[in-house]
Amino acid sequence: MGLGMGLAPDTLLDVRGLEVVFAQPDGPVYAVNGASFHVRRGEWLGILGESGSGKSVSLLSILGLLGDNGRVTAGEAWFDGEDLLRLPERHLRTIRGRRIGVVFQSVSAGLNPFLRVGAQVMEPMLQHHFCGKAEARQRALALLAEMGIPDPETRFHSFPFELSGGMRQRVMTAVALACDPDLLIADEPTTALDTTVQVQVLRVLRDACARRRMATIMVTHDIGVAANVCDRVLVMYAGMVMEVCPIDEFIERPAHPYTLALRASHLDVRHRRKPLVSIPGTAPVLREPPRGCPFAERCAFAADVCRRERPPLMPLAEPAAAAGTGAPSDRHWVACHRAKEVVALGDHAVVDRR
Ligand SMILES: Nc1ncnc2c1ncn2[C@@H]1O[C@H](COP(=O)(O)OP(=O)(O)OP(=O)(O)O)[C@@H](O)[C@H]1O
Ligand code: SF4
Ligand SMILES: [Mg+2]
Repeated sequence: MGLGMGLAPDTLLDVRGLEVVFAQPDGPVYAVNGASFHVRRGEWLGILGESGSGKSVSLLSILGLLGDNGRVTAGEAWFDGEDLLRLPERHLRTIRGRRIGVVFQSVSAGLNPFLRVGAQVMEPMLQHHFCGKAEARQRALALLAEMGIPDPETRFHSFPFELSGGMRQRVMTAVALACDPDLLIADEPTTALDTTVQVQVLRVLRDACARRRMATIMVTHDIGVAANVCDRVLVMYAGMVMEVCPIDEFIERPAHPYTLALRASHLDVRHRRKPLVSIPGTAPVLREPPRGCPFAERCAFAADVCRRERPPLMPLAEPAAAAGTGAPSDRHWVACHRAKEVVALGDHAVVDRR
């Protein structure tokens, strides 16, 4: 149940038409506006997008972790045959932390300041009856060591405030992996880490992903990290999925003007240069549902139709030479009225039209 047309049988999570609204004293905020995405077992999906684009809210909402003022107003989130958005909280709690591990963006949200580190890594294993106490202790120590935490025996007895921000983030990752989850949801899991530790943590996650066929959804601001570890990337803007494709397509054949702008504002993923092109304008906070394309105000390609009609997420045609036919591909999806022209221009689109 729940698997949409064309999805592989090993699809683990299938989110469709997700909408999230926050109530604010001065009116609603439309944070997620019809986002659809999926992840397969063993696959690593990266989520990119500027601050406020709805990355965290999309993930928190399917975990049932929106604050009191947040509400899912539409959508489905099928996880291994169950719609997470319709499960009672009691049932969801048996999945969260056990079958879905979570690394929160905010370190303070992820760890209990009054509980020692070792106890926090053991907690999900004991709570979900994953194993006995002695084994949980051994596993916790092994996970802390795996995360590159020096002297794990000592750190096991530390409180979170005794650790650096980077170490706390690694402890959170250990907590998330404690019960061998099928899916890891990690919101900026390596942002606070220095480069060496970042590589180490990513390697551990990559190994865990491969060994257990664990699927990973990782939010990151770092296109370089996404390019190195992700199988596919999803680009979000104004709570909508603008483009989703395999990482090689993201690098070689981006089809959305926002993806191009985002790439140009970061490390040049192909040439490892840093062109300092910033995206003109700012990301909107939507006080009403988007009517046309929410990127139109900032887009050099915007035409009348863009302001009138919201572009649906559609499969992009394969290059005629590669596919033989130029038929639509189910690998690469894009929400742009002018995607064909954009993909034809490639990176020149950013430079030429400015
Ligand atoms: N509790 C809340 N109450 C009201 N609005 C909220 C709340 N949480 C998020 N929002 C709004 O929802 C939108 C999406 O926020 P979200 O946290 O998902 O962004 P993000 O893409 O994760 O950004 P960042 O990269 O900064 O983490 C933003 O406009 C944000 O202001
Ligand atoms: S739909 Fe129009 S405004 Fe939106 S990204 Fe495409 S060209 Fe730009
Ligand atoms: Mg966020």
